[in-house]
Amino acid sequence: MANNRISVHGQWSSRWAFILAATGSAVGLGNIWRFPYETAENGGGAFVVVYLVCIALVGLPILMAETMMGRRGRQSPINTMKALAEEERRGRYWQLLGVLGVAAGFLILTFYSIVAGWTLAYVFRSISGVFARSSVAQTQEMFATLVSDPERMLAWHTIFIAMTVLVVSRGVKSGLEQAVRYLMPVLFLLVLVLAGYSLATPGFSAAMSYLFKPDFSQIDNATVLSALGHAFFTLSLGMGAMMTYGSYLSQHTSIPKASVSIAVIDTGVALLAGIAIFPIVFTYGLQPEEGGPGLIFKILPIAFGQMPYGRGIGFLFFVLLMFAAWTSAISLLEPATAWLVERKGFTRVRAAMYTGLTAWVLGIGSLLSLNLWSNAKLFGMTFFELVEYLSVNVMLPVGGLLVAVFAGWFMSRSSSYDELKLNKYGYMVWKVGTRFVAPAGVILILLQKIFGFLG
Ligand code: PHE
Repeated sequence: MANNRISVHGQWSSRWAFILAATGSAVGLGNIWRFPYETAENGGGAFVVVYLVCIALVGLPILMAETMMGRRGRQSPINTMKALAEEERRGRYWQLLGVLGVAAGFLILTFYSIVAGWTLAYVFRSISGVFARSSVAQTQEMFATLVSDPERMLAWHTIFIAMTVLVVSRGVKSGLEQAVRYLMPVLFLLVLVLAGYSLATPGFSAAMSYLFKPDFSQIDNATVLSALGHAFFTLSLGMGAMMTYGSYLSQHTSIPKASVSIAVIDTGVALLAGIAIFPIVFTYGLQPEEGGPGLIFKILPIAFGQMPYGRGIGFLFFVLLMFAAWTSAISLLEPATAWLVERKGFTRVRAAMYTGLTAWVLGIGSLLSLNLWSNAKLFGMTFFELVEYLSVNVMLPVGGLLVAVFAGWFMSRSSSYDELKLNKYGYMVWKVGTRFVAPAGVILILLQKIFGFLG
């Protein structure tokens, strides 16, 4: 059965535009900020191995499924799920998957925008040349000063949300597409340059064993859940971002091929970021796990302060990281915005203002939890930590699980076969992935976290 829906929001101008936009969504703070810091919190190599397994066995089939469902439904996730459920004669409650996604997107954006704000602040610090004059201790201090200043962070948070609203309000072609076209390749190059610098530092071999020689005694159920959550986060899965981007995709593009490219680039950038950051950690005798969410902001300025042309390279790096965060944040806001346009008939500009404002208000909670409210804890976590845990480790895996179940079990063979256009064997592998491997992986990991049978 062919799909003849048309998206009211427009369409990507080419296959390449989609790959860039989807890569723009996937590659972001998750790769450069979150991957190193999660690796450090979870003991290094063993986390990396579990993360890679999760990307290949769980993330990739779900990435194809989510994009494919989006292209078939051609609307925001809530309405796409409604349309697909009707088409496949399933219950209306599948819409809730879209609702869960919109909620997860807002929650993620609350802390994402704060970290993107740090990046903006560091763009200015790097041009001032202050890194070259700072000792290791002063670099750490500099981060602490920023985080303890709610007003300054509020200003950066506001600027970042405004930037995101600006692009989302311009729409698919003139907004989203233009933003990613040139920036992604340069970012990739720069992370390569940084990794090249780290290669020559004395801490390089210690960092390589830390990252790639897994010590499996370090693994417990918290590590495995974090690796799974991060796999979803970094591929932008489980909250409808890829579903929305898929809904703007032309019928002629091969979803499996595009998905593999996206996953490979995303994983490559994360690993390179790890290769760039950990040698510096070890060279200066720092403890990876002490960095916390501030890890890269405490570590990289040391390297920029020491290396030749560090001022220019540091500036470029933070500018590009800011762009990477921007192209991801756009995809966090897009599903809710598209839904408002469809449901309420709002103009894009108005819809983007509403969603942006919601994210801005919620983000203030994350911001204050780093300073004024740092003692207010629920389940031992601050607001920032709780929102991050809930959205990444719970909502995304559950959302992804539902996507896999819907695509694998509830969509008719003809619809998924029709969309994916794989050969017989490829289709079989995908089907086994979405029917069994991905759901079993998510369910097992969630269950073992709840009942703690892994120890
Ligand atoms: N994938 C993005 C990153 O790695 C974050 C993101 C998550 C974006 C979920 C959209 C949806 O930074």
